Amino acid sequence: MKLRELVFINAFVVAISLAFINYYFQRDWYYFVLAFGVALVICYAVFYYLIERYVYSKIKLIYKLIHNLKLGKDLKDALGEYVSNDPINDVEQEVTEWARDKKIEIEALKNQEQFRREFLANISHEFKTPLFAIQGYIEALQEDAMDDQDLARSFLHKASRNIDRLTLLVKDLDVISKLESGEAPINFEKFEITHLIRDVIEQMEHKAKSHKIDLIFKDKYDSSFWVNADRDKICQVLVNLIDNGIKYGTENGFVAIKIFELHDQILLEVTDNGLGIEEKHLPRLFERFFRTEQSRSRQIGGSGLGLAIVKHILEAHQQTITVRSTEGVGTTFAFTLEKVMPNIITV
Ligand SMILES: Nc1ncnc2c1ncn2[C@@H]1O[C@H](COP(=O)(O)OP(=O)(O)OP(=O)(O)O)[C@@H](O)[C@H]1O
Ligand SMILES: [Mg+2]
Repeated sequence: MKLRELVFINAFVVAISLAFINYYFQRDWYYFVLAFGVALVICYAVFYYLIERYVYSKIKLIYKLIHNLKLGKDLKDALGEYVSNDPINDVEQEVTEWARDKKIEIEALKNQEQFRREFLANISHEFKTPLFAIQGYIEALQEDAMDDQDLARSFLHKASRNIDRLTLLVKDLDVISKLESGEAPINFEKFEITHLIRDVIEQMEHKAKSHKIDLIFKDKYDSSFWVNADRDKICQVLVNLIDNGIKYGTENGFVAIKIFELHDQILLEVTDNGLGIEEKHLPRLFERFFRTEQSRSRQIGGSGLGLAIVKHILEAHQQTITVRSTEGVGTTFAFTLEKVMPNIITV
């Protein structure tokens, strides 16, 4: 309801009441109409003035303030500008919208805060484990292990492996931060994805054998599948996914890589028949440092950065990755790459 209508209804009720009181004393319809007319005009003018002066102008101010704060203007600008003719309705709408936006903003800030806290806890935990191990070996060497040459060599070897782990951790964090800040640009090039897959398989063959896992990439993928992507970064994606397939695989199991041709994309799948992942963990799988309790408890090496890197790389390519998994049956990661049409390949 508009302000004028509201004031008119109020003035009407008061005026008609006064007119009836007048009629009660005068018993004359002429004075009834006259009193009603005069009271209506006076009440309307007085109510309108009071509401406008004390209530409406204040609401208008609040409305203008919120409206301008939403637009990111400061208080001074907000007070200097006229915005709406019907602020009561607008203010309700704007305040609701504003409250909703603020709620979303607060939720996001809370999540970020929680994320920051978890991130710090995770990072210190990941650093602490190898650092304490190195410290332990050095202390042992300083005390008396030096006398036993074989023991000393073994401690040094173990310390060195922990240093490798720390180095890898720093490298992974560096890759993520560079991808996030855009410092690691995507160098698009057109290349044959099957060649890259074969290279990666060759590179991972040794590790797969030591875990008794078969790496499968069928000969039928001999035909060319050209993609437009950053070759080195996609190599990293494949290495991380195949590495997971091997690490979380079962003895005498397999990791298979498959290619599917879509309309303007190539879909790659990395499937294993390993441990699988509980459904409740799937939404958090690509978060930094996320590891399932199962992989932690089995003491399988890793810091939980592999999939975060994979996701960042594919997002930087404007491509997507999905995961399907059944506990005890296996896992499939599927990601897309931009397909290059054969007629535009120039080599
Ligand atoms: N193929 C898979 N099968 C079962 N679990 C998996 C698989 N891939 C990933 N996971 C689960 O997801 C977690 C995160 O994987 P991610 O590759 O990010 O880290 P990681 O392998 O533990 O360490 P990193 O890759 O940094 O060495 C793993 O710890 C594991 O619990
Ligand atoms: Mg991994």
